[in-house]
Amino acid sequence: MKNSFNLTRARAETRFCENIIHFNNAGSSLMPIPVADALHNYLYQEERLGGYETAADQQESLENFYHATAKLLACGTNEIAFIENATRAWDMAFYSFKFAQGDKILTTLAEYGSNVIAYNQQAQRYGVEIVFVPNDEFGQIDIHALENLIDDRVKLISISHVPTGGGLVNPASAVGRIAQSARIPYLLDACQSIGQLPLNVDEIGCDMLSGTGRKYLRGPRGTGLLYVRQSLIEQLEPPFLDQHAATLTSPTTYQIRGDAQRFENWEQYLAGKAALGVAIDYALSYGLEAIQARIYELAQTLRNKLRGIAGVQLTDEGLEKCGIVTFATTQLTPSAIQQRLKAHQVHVSISEGSGSLVSFQHRGLTQVVRASVHYYNTDQEIDYFAELLQTMLSNQA
Ligand SMILES: Cc1ncc(COP(=O)(O)O)c(C=O)c1O
Repeated sequence: MKNSFNLTRARAETRFCENIIHFNNAGSSLMPIPVADALHNYLYQEERLGGYETAADQQESLENFYHATAKLLACGTNEIAFIENATRAWDMAFYSFKFAQGDKILTTLAEYGSNVIAYNQQAQRYGVEIVFVPNDEFGQIDIHALENLIDDRVKLISISHVPTGGGLVNPASAVGRIAQSARIPYLLDACQSIGQLPLNVDEIGCDMLSGTGRKYLRGPRGTGLLYVRQSLIEQLEPPFLDQHAATLTSPTTYQIRGDAQRFENWEQYLAGKAALGVAIDYALSYGLEAIQARIYELAQTLRNKLRGIAGVQLTDEGLEKCGIVTFATTQLTPSAIQQRLKAHQVHVSISEGSGSLVSFQHRGLTQVVRASVHYYNTDQEIDYFAELLQTMLSNQA
């Protein structure tokens, strides 16, 4: 059955979508008009009134960030922190753990490069052991292997839900069931899945979740968020504290606040925070199930088209595949494809290097094209993209 997504609305509310074909939503999506207007208006008010006066006036729209995020993730507002990007949000949770020699972190081959750097830093500092759980035959984390790797030394399970360099959706809820039954804290990097598919932290069973604003949520750059389960907040002492995260109670004592805002800074990108709240409400107005169905359908159409082009190899793994479509070709390098598409106002990105290193080394890949679709993209754009690529590649033959 064809998905009845309100595409007319989505395109009417995406100001410049007729000028370009933007298949770089996993890099940074196009902001919808209500989000862009909220951001511009906030900044304009700061220009007119000053930052502190604007913050006082915009209290409600700033608070709305917590309400919207709590609705999105089905959690409490006290469990949410606003942080400037997904990496730092993830860091604030990860570096709150006190590891000791011999502790193990279980992760996935699809793990994001920055996270792997952080594991290695803790491995070098404290002798933590990093265990990459093998994949199953579909290229997603092998749940049975994960279960068999659980022992007393495992102090954290930490995985990327959707990797940066592929359409794989790891089975986050199956991981959550294992983490919960073993009572091991579970950190989910949802940077690429937030805004793209429904995320209910209780259904997933994660204790911490990090996300970014600019990708599938269609918020502004420089925005991100962290969820931490209430029962864990007081056990996690953030690696940095300021006088928003804690209160100085005497010259030699301080008290850390009891909610997830202990992971925040006082100084924040407030225009971005207000606009991210609008972006989340905007996503909720379509519904995350409807968004997911629309994105998956477009990505499936794109994959089917690509399968029909000689020389194209799709590189997405997993049983469930999302809106990130990756491929390489025998005729042109991914960088050459990206540049040539750009000359036609078609935007894709490249996945290479650190971000996907563990997975790509495992699979013998170095660089792939990443075409990431969002619900406001169209079948016509996909047709144009496929024809353009086919012409480009056949001109190389
Ligand atoms: C899986 C994953 N995690 C984390 C990040 C980092 O997000 P940010 O750039 O917002 O810090 C990315 C960025 O592409 C990502 O793909």
